[in-house]
Amino acid sequence: MTRGYEQQLRIPIQELISADTTRCSKYPGNSGTSSTPVNVTTPKLDSTQERTDTVQTATRDENTHTSNLVRSENDQDRLDADQLSQCEKAQLDKLLKLAPCPAGVSIDALKVIQEARGWVSDTSLSLLSSYLNVSISDLDSVATFYNLIFRRPVGDIVLHPCNGISCDLMGGAEIRNTISQQLNIKPGETTADNQFTLIPLPCLGACDKAPVMIASKRLYENLDSTQTLGLIDALIKGNK
Ligand code: FES
Repeated sequence: MTRGYEQQLRIPIQELISADTTRCSKYPGNSGTSSTPVNVTTPKLDSTQERTDTVQTATRDENTHTSNLVRSENDQDRLDADQLSQCEKAQLDKLLKLAPCPAGVSIDALKVIQEARGWVSDTSLSLLSSYLNVSISDLDSVATFYNLIFRRPVGDIVLHPCNGISCDLMGGAEIRNTISQQLNIKPGETTADNQFTLIPLPCLGACDKAPVMIASKRLYENLDSTQTLGLIDALIKGNK
């Protein structure tokens, strides 16, 4: 069975969310629930580029994780809220029922918040701390350890080209340069329209398919510049 990187995390929040086919709205001003199931389908760039099940999620990279991300204050406010929504609380309650202690759900609780809000702000961290009865510092330690938990605002689509040695030997730097030039952003930055954020990550666990990139929670393999440009175009058009 093919498993996406979100399913590699310790507690199967993906399965929990999929079980009731709902997830919290990305924007707290909305109703708080969506009938859209979480997308776990296998993407294809071509017949040989299927999604891998070996993406690693727990590699720390402070340089890229804390880089300058460009987003307006209004957008930050839009994605933040001063209380947990009913949907968020329901998802957290499901996690708590399965865990032996509240701290055990930290990473998946952070994922719940990020799914709903796009990123994990200080306010969100404080709300989560109160709800789980886990200290802010403990939650922040978890959040900043995992590359795929964002402590700063990001664009709607986060591009994670691999900058590991295997990918670089196979042209990874060219992929990253192609993205930077096409979107006019440097690593750690977000496009002016908030559509894309570029955050290179170290080895994604698919060295045999190098160079690789995660985009919209999917892994794309054996990339070259032409394919990367095509992928960006497809993402802009909403076809990926
Ligand atoms: S170095 Fe890129 S997947 Fe391992």
